[in-house]
Amino acid sequence: MTETLIKFTRGVPSAESFCPDQLAECASAVLTQYCDVVLQYGPSRGFAPLRTMLAEQYGVDPNRVIVGQGSLQLQDLCARVLIRPGDTVHVEEPSYDRALTVLRRAGGQLVGLPLDGDGPDVDEMEARLKSGERPVILYVIPDFQNPSGAVLSAEKRQRIADLAREYEFWIIEDSPYRRLRYRGSDVPTLFEMAPDRVLHMSSYSKLISPGLRVGYVIAPDAVVDKLARMAEDTYINASYLNHAIVYEYERRGWLTPHIEEIKALYRPRLDAMLEALDNSLTGLATWRRPEGGFFVGMTLKADVRAKDLLKRAEQANLQLTDGRGFFAASGGDRFVRLPFCALTPQEIEEGVARLAQVVRGL
Ligand SMILES: Cc1ncc(COP(=O)(O)O)c(C=O)c1O
Repeated sequence: MTETLIKFTRGVPSAESFCPDQLAECASAVLTQYCDVVLQYGPSRGFAPLRTMLAEQYGVDPNRVIVGQGSLQLQDLCARVLIRPGDTVHVEEPSYDRALTVLRRAGGQLVGLPLDGDGPDVDEMEARLKSGERPVILYVIPDFQNPSGAVLSAEKRQRIADLAREYEFWIIEDSPYRRLRYRGSDVPTLFEMAPDRVLHMSSYSKLISPGLRVGYVIAPDAVVDKLARMAEDTYINASYLNHAIVYEYERRGWLTPHIEEIKALYRPRLDAMLEALDNSLTGLATWRRPEGGFFVGMTLKADVRAKDLLKRAEQANLQLTDGRGFFAASGGDRFVRLPFCALTPQEIEEGVARLAQVVRGL
């Protein structure tokens, strides 16, 4: 067995990206300044100064902003508020495995739209809508998608926004990787195109720390009060102290330079991943070349079973996520998600070399 275990599993930030001293300063400052607020229960929408800051950034009324306990918790609230058991929910295929679980658990019947390099198959979606299918939600991760790395093109975003208006479904736009663009330029958000149909979500997990559990949703007026009520009945309020730490960090102007620093840390890791794949897996698999985010999604050419792939990888001291979890119904045996941010370029190179050996041996 090869010596060290290499984990191509969880999409976590690198521990080197954390800034504990600055966060300690922020914690101390907010405990002094907002003691009565951050140590007390509060309204379920979250710590008001952070909500006001976000409302300014997105150009909306602060009432439309809910800051929660990480964005996955907010996904759960949205699913429970918007889905009635048996409702159809359109998702990209592949998509974020935990979000699929949340949508299914709320009773959603998931319909997977095959993902191309520029986003889900909108022709297929439109054909389904025209044939009478009525999804209540389209769940999309338009920027550096988890697990594939794909970015939804501006043209497809516009078509999706138009379809959402015409057929009156909600779009959950889950975008925690948007600010982690290592090259190229931004594409406008779905939220900008259809603010009345989009629940735009993001998170500080990948930008500051997932341990703080601070994420948010900008929701249309028609649903935001229901979400706030569901939040209150679920957890009363998320941690104001953590919201306030994030607020103070951004207020001091530390977030933007920090994002530049982590981009400088992650960019060479993405490049190392792509170079290693080019060197070791050309001809055996296909993959996208993302310009940001945490993941490269890869599809093996051989007709393998996920079970065998995972077992052989484990024997080579390599941990992989089961690709089937990213698919709405069936499929995913040949899909491999490769997260690159929490590994050094050397670990990436070694991990991909092991993966290539495993794939050759199947
Ligand atoms: C697309 C996507 N949405 C949501 C989350 C969860 O984020 P949070 O830590 O804010 O709950 C993740 C985490 O990996 C993710 O990849």
